[in-house]
Amino acid sequence: MTSTPMSSTAMSDAWENRDDVDLARSVLCANRFESLAAAVQPVFRDAMVARIGRRVGHTRLALDLACGLGDWTRAYLDFADAALGIDINARFLSVAERGASEAGVAARCRFSRRSLTDPASVRPAGLIALGGCVQYLEDADVDALFGRIADVQVPGQVLYLRSTVTTALRQPFATPGGRYRTARFYEERLEALGYRLAERLSSATAFCEALTGGDRPERLDVQTLVASTLSAPVWAARQLLRRSDYVNWVWVKR
Ligand SMILES: C[S@@+](CC[C@H](N)C(=O)[O-])C[C@H]1O[C@@H](n2cnc3c(N)ncnc32)[C@H](O)[C@@H]1O
Repeated sequence: MTSTPMSSTAMSDAWENRDDVDLARSVLCANRFESLAAAVQPVFRDAMVARIGRRVGHTRLALDLACGLGDWTRAYLDFADAALGIDINARFLSVAERGASEAGVAARCRFSRRSLTDPASVRPAGLIALGGCVQYLEDADVDALFGRIADVQVPGQVLYLRSTVTTALRQPFATPGGRYRTARFYEERLEALGYRLAERLSSATAFCEALTGGDRPERLDVQTLVASTLSAPVWAARQLLRRSDYVNWVWVKR
């Protein structure tokens, strides 16, 4: 693992010395169910990586920015010859290195300690992944990072972004755990930088589709109709009360 001096903002500084490895796994739901999220996260991750892989095809390098424990970094080897994980937290990186070694892929999977605010963290790659991390950056740092990514990617290359966002009726807000911007905040910027949206789905949807194979009931019987009608108001109330969501975007450079 290489190491460079850190330069970053207060919220992501808080990550630098964190040693609660379980926290790095809680990426499925931004609001509740965090321990459930940790348990189901591999199902969600593998389903999402398969979707990303279908867009990428094959690439020489996958760059996993803010890679955490490196499980996504390793999974990108399904369609990348090599993967490079970058993170600010040395403890997470040593777990990531051990994981790559145990999986027998250490030669193809490298890790480096840098901040996302360090321009050297971005390099050309057929896939650049930003999983669950931009919410810790200031707006200006998000702009700088997106700009650097757009500068190094060529048409057809893929950017995967996952972030907490506000739900439709809520105003942006921040907690000590991160910034909840509108989905539009990220979408406007990436569209302006020449990215085309290939897929957008919530983490919960990706997870449910992975479990059911995206199956729908073959025919609508009376029982299903009554059950859905009765549960619709509860579903609508839940949507209204929810403040945040976790959105996955797969973007392709034009
Ligand atoms: C919720 S975890 C996500 C980990 C992984 N990408 C995933 O999808 O499972 C957030 C990660 O962002 C990293 N991080 C936060 N701020 C950072 C920064 N400024 N530079 C690099 N990594 C940062 C943390 O150390 C942590 O590993």
